Amino acid sequence: MGTMWDKRYEGDEYLFGTSPAAFLADREQFLRASAGKTCLAVADGEGRNSVFMAKCGIDVTSMDSSEIGQAKAKKLAKAEDLSINFQVADLRTWGWHENAFDLVVAIFIQFADPVFRTEIFEGMKKTVKPGGTILLHGYTPKQIEYGTGGPGVAANLYTPEILADAFEGFEGFEIEALNAYDKVITEGTGHSGKSALIDLVARKPV
Ligand SMILES: C[S@@+](CC[C@H](N)C(=O)[O-])C[C@H]1O[C@@H](n2cnc3c(N)ncnc32)[C@H](O)[C@@H]1O
Repeated sequence: MGTMWDKRYEGDEYLFGTSPAAFLADREQFLRASAGKTCLAVADGEGRNSVFMAKCGIDVTSMDSSEIGQAKAKKLAKAEDLSINFQVADLRTWGWHENAFDLVVAIFIQFADPVFRTEIFEGMKKTVKPGGTILLHGYTPKQIEYGTGGPGVAANLYTPEILADAFEGFEGFEIEALNAYDKVITEGTGHSGKSALIDLVARKPV
């Protein structure tokens, strides 16, 4: 898996751009209010999202299985004089420490098939601290028609039902937002054009 992404990340250009996902940029106020808190950026790629959160004053751990992607993330952080805890690691073997992070942010991690996805979601729910927040962003199956980004594998994409099933009511988790919508995004050449997106914001009970 890492190899495929290493290949996609070759070259100086940032495949998904250097600006954060619109989903995160729209939550800048919340992120600034989270200054000083800890965050795990899951499969953070070239670092556009972790760098944005670090700029908001958040103490970010960024993990991804692509060494090439992470090298670009490090370069981006260095250019902004930001310190981020970078770790090259595979989510299949990631140690999800219990109640470890105030925020857990996963943006476009739809490389995961339904079984792997369940494992990742369980890990995210475990590793977020009580009172902490999970931010998850991806595509709905309608994205297959648009073809403007994503894996093109319908089973890996999220419906509101899939995310409600995974997060609602799980040990009292509270869903603060669950929205599926169409929007034009411009996030590098990787994600560009009319897109069928879905956002989830869920909070672990205190
Ligand atoms: C679509 S990219 C999104 C990157 C980043 N979150 C963003 O929004 O710019 C998916 C990322 O998942 C990473 N990835 C794929 N399989 C992985 C795995 N098993 N463990 C960790 N990261 C993985 C890839 O290296 C790639 O950076």
